[in-house]
Amino acid sequence: MPARADQTPKHRGAGCRQRLLFFAAGRAFRMSALLEIRNVGIRFGGIVALSGVSFEVCAGEICGLIGPNGSGKTTLFNCISGIYRPSKGDIVFNGQNLCTIARHRLAALGIGRTFQNLALFRTMSVSENILVGAHHFGRTGFIANALCLPRVRREEDDAQRRLVELLELLELAAVAAEPVANLPFAMQKRVELARAVIGGPKLLLMDEPAGGLNHSEVDVLAELIRTLRDRFQMSILLVEHHMNLVMRISDRVVALEFGMKIAEGSPQAVQNHPEVIRAYLGGRAHAAVA
Ligand SMILES: Nc1ncnc2c1ncn2[C@@H]1O[C@H](COP(=O)(O)OP(=O)(O)OP(=O)(O)O)[C@@H](O)[C@H]1O
Ligand SMILES: [Mg+2]
Repeated sequence: MPARADQTPKHRGAGCRQRLLFFAAGRAFRMSALLEIRNVGIRFGGIVALSGVSFEVCAGEICGLIGPNGSGKTTLFNCISGIYRPSKGDIVFNGQNLCTIARHRLAALGIGRTFQNLALFRTMSVSENILVGAHHFGRTGFIANALCLPRVRREEDDAQRRLVELLELLELAAVAAEPVANLPFAMQKRVELARAVIGGPKLLLMDEPAGGLNHSEVDVLAELIRTLRDRFQMSILLVEHHMNLVMRISDRVVALEFGMKIAEGSPQAVQNHPEVIRAYLGGRAHAAVA
């Protein structure tokens, strides 16, 4: 069983509920787990993509998820968002076990997601693409919509208000009516981000948001992720190979290798963890660290 990078005798065995205390106005507040990954495992034929992975994401936290190619990061996202059903373990979100909930209900629970490969409707405009993300969260049914009841109107107004806010925040207002296919890659990524956020998720899963961006675009993205977290009071689980970004904005980092957790702790502790160094740089680096 790999040791957590931040383990001390005092912390050992404690989950994030016990570990993450913060202080405001002289009082201590305890952050509760929004997402609990419990002993999750899944295999594809002979490939063990995840094996006994457990960790928690607390409310309001940015949790980085790192690991070399093929270590199971996207597979875990697919398990959380219901695309795959884990063969072992449980995933509990906001007190509900996602593994026992019908897949079509998962999106409405408050989990937003961006994809490793952009998944946009290329001929639709920026605004139309973003508004697609608002429909999951509509509470009104077919009859209310057919009758154009006032609450349908209120929902539409609410979606429009959030659209305007996101267009401004993500600097997309000037291209709101453009088909997304006409935009540079970095802007398309921001459209996907806005689509994931417009429905007001409690948890946002971001799969390699910095992939394909240059250095200055990554800097902008780092600030943006923090701003979005604060403005919309979300938790974020961030998969990224761009180490500077992960280490800069994560409150905590979890590292995977070959489908298993090899380290968990503060960004600095995980960055210096011998297992993480070995996983990324190979056996010689490990020997040097030892
Ligand atoms: N649908 C599938 N069928 C077969 N194998 C799969 C499937 N999905 C994932 N895998 C395998 O599971 C392992 C983990 O893949 P995954 O895509 O989760 O890795 P990753 O950590 O996201 O990698 P990367 O950093 O390259 O995106 C890999 O060996 C991959 O080939
Ligand atoms: Mg991946």
